[in-house]
Amino acid sequence: MSAFLNSKLRGEPVAYVANARKLDKGRAMSVCARCHGSDILLGSTDIYRIYEPGRSREGRTNDLSEYFQQTPLEPGRSFPTVEVWADGEPKGIGMLFRSMIESRCYQEAEVRCFDCHNPHDNKQPSEPGILQASKTSNQYCTGCHENLMVEAEFHTHHESGEPGSFCYDCHMPKTLTKLATGVLETTRTHKMSSIPSPANTLRYGMDGSPNACTLCHSEETAQWSADYVQEWFGEISAQSPRGL
Ligand code: HEC
Ligand code: HEC
Ligand code: HEC
Ligand code: HEC
Ligand code: HEC
Repeated sequence: MSAFLNSKLRGEPVAYVANARKLDKGRAMSVCARCHGSDILLGSTDIYRIYEPGRSREGRTNDLSEYFQQTPLEPGRSFPTVEVWADGEPKGIGMLFRSMIESRCYQEAEVRCFDCHNPHDNKQPSEPGILQASKTSNQYCTGCHENLMVEAEFHTHHESGEPGSFCYDCHMPKTLTKLATGVLETTRTHKMSSIPSPANTLRYGMDGSPNACTLCHSEETAQWSADYVQEWFGEISAQSPRGL
């Protein structure tokens, strides 16, 4: 408020604070994308530099969404932090935001960063438990995927409440790699509609295309996971979901 008054008194442009909940998803996500979605191979990185969160002053953009998918996901790209897996899935931590907008949930519905993260304290969840594979996080997913609220166990083939039965387990596996310090650290992909594909692992190996099943069942082979996915989910799903 004082900054607002100061600017007014000095006749300078006023910095507005916008209510993210009232912004459309492109504008709301741009606030976080600016730092968490580097896409630094873009020819148009200047757009990130002049970006202002919230309402723009005249001539300034505050919606970066038209740039969100400008950089192609080149399979096997090895550029640091924006690496891509051999199967074309986002891999580097710099692709965190990109992974989210690749998900059908973002493309076809309204999902926002602050659905799960407290925007004023990035160490905290927006709701207790929502950042873990838990009942709360399942409720977030089934809020839109209502059919799976009742059919969860039939869908997951894992005992309810146990690892392997939560939406995050299979659809947000830890396939984003953090800084290459020699030790492989991972965090969850934000492509929340990603589908485990042991078939791709058979093609590219776990180094080229890890899948959620084999990440947990590390003592088993990709073929073992592929056989179960085929048995449980059928022929089509055993194929690559990206059609590679
Ligand atoms: C000005 C740049 C910037 C913006 C804008 C920004 N972040 Fe961050 N964020 C960072 C940096 C740098 C870190 C790593 C340092 C840290 O852990 O605090 C970080 C860390 C995080 C973390 C991980 C915290 C942890 O250690 O567990 C989350 C979650 C996060 N940000 C979410 C968001 C969300 C959601 C938004 C949009 C509402 C957002 N950030 C906007 C720069 C930014
Ligand atoms: C705001 C609504 C919304 C939320 C929340 C949401 N989704 Fe979605 N999701 C959609 C829509 C819309 C689609 C596309 C139509 C469909 O398949 O139902 C979709 C598609 C999917 C697909 C299918 C992808 C494909 O290629 O067929 C999966 C898997 C998925 N979501 C998983 C999740 C998981 C896991 C969560 C929680 C982390 C989640 N969704 C949260 C709206 C949402
Ligand atoms: C469906 C819930 C959900 C949404 C929506 C979501 N996140 Fe996350 N995010 C998670 C989970 C789960 C983790 C992993 C937390 C953990 O392992 O402790 C995470 C981790 C992170 C981290 C930490 C990465 C690291 O270094 O370990 C950052 C940064 C982050 N999210 C930013 C964002 C941004 C930016 C958006 C919007 C583009 C976003 N998240 C949207 C669930 C979500
Ligand atoms: C054990 C792994 C696993 C768990 C846990 C899991 N899924 Fe799935 N899910 C899959 C697989 C594999 C497919 C692909 C099947 C297909 O295409 O028919 C899939 C497909 C989907 C689809 C798209 C097809 C459809 O049935 O509508 C949605 C949406 C979805 N899952 C949402 C969820 C939600 C929400 C949860 C949590 C309640 C969840 N999944 C938990 C493995 C899992
Ligand atoms: C978050 C970890 C996790 C994920 C992801 C996961 N599982 Fe499981 N799975 C478990 C646990 C825990 C059990 C029960 C303990 C056991 O028997 O190993 C189990 C049990 C099983 C079983 C029966 C026990 C056995 O070893 O024969 C099969 C088969 C199985 N999972 C296959 C899959 C497949 C296929 C996927 C991917 C669609 C998958 N799991 C994803 C953790 C996971």
